[in-house]
Amino acid sequence: MKESYQRLLQNNHDWAIDKRKFNPDYFNKLSLGQSPEFLWIGCSDSRVPANEVTNTKPGEIFVHRNIANVVIQTDMNLLSVLYYAVDILHVKHIIVCGHYGCGGVNAAIQQKDFGFVNNWLRSIKEVYAKHKKELEAIDDLERRERRLVELNVIEQTNNLAKTRIVQRAWKNGSLQIHPWVFDCANGMITELDNKITSISDVEPIFRYDL
Ligand code: CO
Repeated sequence: MKESYQRLLQNNHDWAIDKRKFNPDYFNKLSLGQSPEFLWIGCSDSRVPANEVTNTKPGEIFVHRNIANVVIQTDMNLLSVLYYAVDILHVKHIIVCGHYGCGGVNAAIQQKDFGFVNNWLRSIKEVYAKHKKELEAIDDLERRERRLVELNVIEQTNNLAKTRIVQRAWKNGSLQIHPWVFDCANGMITELDNKITSISDVEPIFRYDL
């Protein structure tokens, strides 16, 4: 009997043959390079694959995923992806896409000890603390958690706007930052009301004298 991972290799083989069948030039074009217009910062959750939920093709979205789609200023991985996407690929839009039912947010809203992961979830607890008044005014715990998912996305877009990488891009051209939430229950993405398009959307203390 085949092992489960072998199905993936078989699928890949079928996919590659299929692509070539409909477009013999497909991989020749793909191997020439990438010029994606979008950077996607999403959750690692297996239910929210960037290309599939946006019905986009290979080459269209540059992707970074981590637990609960957070933007931490000391995360070398995130910063390297952001730098490459903005300075080298010149993406026009950065999307931070969270999702309802996020395990990371669910863990962060509790006081339970999750061992090493506590460190990662800390920044989500900071979002909770910042918006405690609004969140604790919501009695229904599921609704409160859904709101934390939204606020987490909004705060992560704010964190992006505080980076030198994004502020330099604004100085030289345009770059939009979009907070989105995906709902596993119906497959729909909702745009949240915190679109960031210029330095004027950033608190003055975080603006660099570039
Ligand atoms: Co998640």
